[in-house]
Amino acid sequence: MKNELKDLTLDEKISLLMGKNTWETYDADGKLDSAFLADGPSGLRMNDVSVPKPYPTFPATAMPTLSCLANGWDTSLSYLDGKTIADDCIERHADVLLAPGVNIKRTPLCGRNFEYLSEDPYLAGELAKAFIEGVQSKGVGTSLKHFAANNREYNRHSQSSEVDERTFREIYLPAFEKALEANPWTVMCSYNRINGIWASENKWLLKQILRDELGFDGLIVSDWGATHNAVRALKATLDLTMPTRTENEDELRDALARGIITEEDINARAEKVLQLVRKARCAKKEVTTTKEERHSIAAKIASECAVLLKNEDNILPLRDGNILVDGLFKNAAVLGGGGSSFVVSDYKQRSLCDELSERMPGSKFFTSKSVLDTAEGTIYPEKIYEAAYSADTVILAMGTDRYIEAEGRDRAEIRLPRAEEELILRTAEANENVIVVLEAGSAIDVSPWIDKVKALLYVGFAGEGAQEAIADILSGKISPSGKLAETFPLSLDDTYTAREHGNGAYERYTDGIFVGYRYYDTAKLDVAFPFGHGLSYAEFEYSDLEIDKKSETEYDVGFTVKNISGVTAKEICQLYVGDPFSYVSRPEKELRGFAKIELGAGESKRVTLSLDKRAFAYYSTPLKCWHVENGDFEILVGASSRDIRLKKTIKIDLPDTEQYTL
Ligand code: GLC
Repeated sequence: MKNELKDLTLDEKISLLMGKNTWETYDADGKLDSAFLADGPSGLRMNDVSVPKPYPTFPATAMPTLSCLANGWDTSLSYLDGKTIADDCIERHADVLLAPGVNIKRTPLCGRNFEYLSEDPYLAGELAKAFIEGVQSKGVGTSLKHFAANNREYNRHSQSSEVDERTFREIYLPAFEKALEANPWTVMCSYNRINGIWASENKWLLKQILRDELGFDGLIVSDWGATHNAVRALKATLDLTMPTRTENEDELRDALARGIITEEDINARAEKVLQLVRKARCAKKEVTTTKEERHSIAAKIASECAVLLKNEDNILPLRDGNILVDGLFKNAAVLGGGGSSFVVSDYKQRSLCDELSERMPGSKFFTSKSVLDTAEGTIYPEKIYEAAYSADTVILAMGTDRYIEAEGRDRAEIRLPRAEEELILRTAEANENVIVVLEAGSAIDVSPWIDKVKALLYVGFAGEGAQEAIADILSGKISPSGKLAETFPLSLDDTYTAREHGNGAYERYTDGIFVGYRYYDTAKLDVAFPFGHGLSYAEFEYSDLEIDKKSETEYDVGFTVKNISGVTAKEICQLYVGDPFSYVSRPEKELRGFAKIELGAGESKRVTLSLDKRAFAYYSTPLKCWHVENGDFEILVGASSRDIRLKKTIKIDLPDTEQYTL
């Protein structure tokens, strides 16, 4: 049998603890198989290493980014997304997909928010678990990342995230904890320090928490370049340093010679690498989609994740007329954000004009000679204003892009570029029926212009199928059903972390558990659009809330949702729990369940969601466990975190013996 530890010399085992090159594990000159690790969360980004540098990147299907996927609130969609990306991986012989990233969106400024799922750990964890299951169902591994508390790009290679234990366990760990239920082949440690110690050598993080407490028995890989000392990393049970790191072998040999580490320590880590290689080699892999089918899936997912934030006068779906289609992204949507996750797609996107004309032959869609048609690629806004006067309705495709939202740096603000704001405002002066299609990977401060436009459709960085998805929704072919997985605050000043990004050495997480809607609710702050918000072309009625007690800390929550409109649509129902009186500070409410259901016109469905002990508990540092304090708990069912439709209070009365972990 190949890839067995017993066949390796000590030197070969030492070499196994780091990459052979940028993407592959060590192969001992062919004695071992190699595993190929490739990005990323929104599709395969893989270099063609068979040709001389600079390596070209293989084209692949550009799926929506995870921040877009999260707005779908749909585990089956996440599963499908992961499964679809896996086919590109199999075609190119990538064994491990370096995804998903589940870092919590503590600040909308984080440059990589587009790569992450949510400000809420429950939603992030459920969707990540499904994504991992989807990828790995095809025999391709995943890498759950970036472990942990990597919530900003500023000085990411060294700044320490200073997080208290309760906050860590209630906010920054749960998404990893839930995603681990899918048994990812690998976990990637992050670049940053956690409470002073680099993640790559943080034994509390990697061994005590990840391995011993959460039971992870796969391979821990460093982020690329995140290992600073091979000996301390080995002691912390990091298995694989990527990519190649010249100091690794000397550090390990020297430590062996000095008796600081033993060959058994080396063997333990080397075996994890071989376990990964054997998994990769033994996995049954079969491509089951064509490139065209993968594109259609990308478009379908994008259409399910778009969020209709505003729809004044029900201007959407579009009515036939003389419709100007313009804006920065009228000819091609933003595929994704910048950095290691950016997928090279060779799909030729069609213009929004063409996509809409195909769906609404009774309308005249036209565009101005305003942007991207010119050699300079600059915007000639006056051409838009001129055209806007003659239109019944104007659609503006605007947003950020992969140069504004990118790995390695944070945004300095959350407004759109001023030229874009100006363009929206001037166009709105020329036409009272402006619809903005917003392409961005994280929350945008829309306050300068939102009151001047009739509708806002937030599509995120929706991948290569974005134009079809946008046209399907604007034309009314399908109703929008996405809801925000990240709050849109009224301004950057309203965010807790507005002006601070640490001092380069550390960032103190003084907001504690009050992150995202947990903060805005508790601070009683108005927001532009709340967590969980999203409009539909249908209307839904919630009724008949019933709570079925299974035990003192387990309940089935049932309620009925009725589509009281004349169109088929999907609704994301949300279940929150609040602990109105407790002896520790707690958020006003916390997401503890959700379901996405499709209802025909006039149709009703009964939804049942289950609550277990964790739904009521907070993490007690004195007791070192999840603790439920006896008393009243509010059960809240809503269409968003601030649109609660049904509410009941239950009383939990655990016997003293169960009150504490004795
Ligand atoms: C990058 C990213 C990580 C990525 C890896 C390989 O720096 O932090 O997410 O998977 O390196 O590109």
